[in-house]
Amino acid sequence: MSLLPQRVFSGVQPTGNLHLGNYLGAISRFVALQQTHDCIYCVVDLHAITVPQKPSELVANIREVTAAFIACGVDPKRHIIFNQSQVAEHAELAWIFNCIARIGWLNRMTQFKEKAGKDRENASVGLYAYPTLMAADILIYRATHVPVGEDQKQHLELARDIAQKFNNDFAESITAAGHGDAFFPLPEPLIQGPATRVMSLRDGAKKMSKSDPSDNSRINLSDDADTIAQKVRRAKTDPEVLPSETPGLAGRPEADNLVGIYAALADGSKADVLREFGGANFSSFKGALVDLAVAKLGPIGADMRRLQADPDYIDEVLREGSRRARVIAAENMKAVKEIVGFIS
Ligand code: TYM
Repeated sequence: MSLLPQRVFSGVQPTGNLHLGNYLGAISRFVALQQTHDCIYCVVDLHAITVPQKPSELVANIREVTAAFIACGVDPKRHIIFNQSQVAEHAELAWIFNCIARIGWLNRMTQFKEKAGKDRENASVGLYAYPTLMAADILIYRATHVPVGEDQKQHLELARDIAQKFNNDFAESITAAGHGDAFFPLPEPLIQGPATRVMSLRDGAKKMSKSDPSDNSRINLSDDADTIAQKVRRAKTDPEVLPSETPGLAGRPEADNLVGIYAALADGSKADVLREFGGANFSSFKGALVDLAVAKLGPIGADMRRLQADPDYIDEVLREGSRRARVIAAENMKAVKEIVGFIS
């Protein structure tokens, strides 16, 4: 196995309503990894159009995600922030991966089944092939680590299967081209922390999601302090007090969710939170959660608004990030073409 440098890659779709789940499950982890890794963070606009988007809203949403990355603390000078469609190699490698991945593998993807719903015949081909593009996003940079929320685990497993099959299918050619016995690393999902699956505030059995018709189900990164307070106070709970230890959260999905959110915002664990709040009723716990959420998210929302008011700056960040991403992607694509047997 050739030794590749560690590199982090992850992506977020520009489809509106960035929420607390995106922040705690993904973007806050992006920020932490900057200290230890070279990171590439992508606004995945090609993924967004797997379902219809209004062009004027798409442009605004791409800028919103970019602003969120920066406002949360990703440094576009030290690391790379860009939008996927500016680096054509993503789509190019995705085609090759469409010819590597098996239909049977894609048929198992639960997210496609959920998103396509009953009217599967009418879903776009892009929605079906979505995970091969996601594999290409990661592997065009030969990234080794991928911070994501729990819901992306299956897609990451598929990316590993694709990398493995490519390495096997082209083993001879990979060695002949001087890449040792594997060209692609098997990317490792980083699904870490107390909030890898943030649930809806209205229903502890449902994931917090941008597409939930109830805005009260989620805290948006753009919500102001009053809105955050209102949504937390209205969040569904149960009649018991909080337990003192984590096993006491079993069978109490709403309590578990709020404790997980508190823990993630406070950079601690659920056990820490229960040590402090065990025996407390929800009204006092929610009061503390409002204070913490407003203190953490308020400045992020304000910074996002400030950045979004300067689209020229954001577009320049994306242009410059794309330029740097393209250098890495072009070099790897050239190697892939040689391995596959294309003339370039
Ligand atoms: P997307 O845009 O749906 O979500 C962006 C990130 O947020 C995480 N997330 C959550 N984490 C915890 N709780 C939640 N309720 C919650 N909701 C969303 C997601 O797990 C994700 O990490 N397919 C990806 C985008 C993508 C990508 C990639 C990711 C495209 N290419 C390559 C990694 C690597 C997606 O739709 O994420």
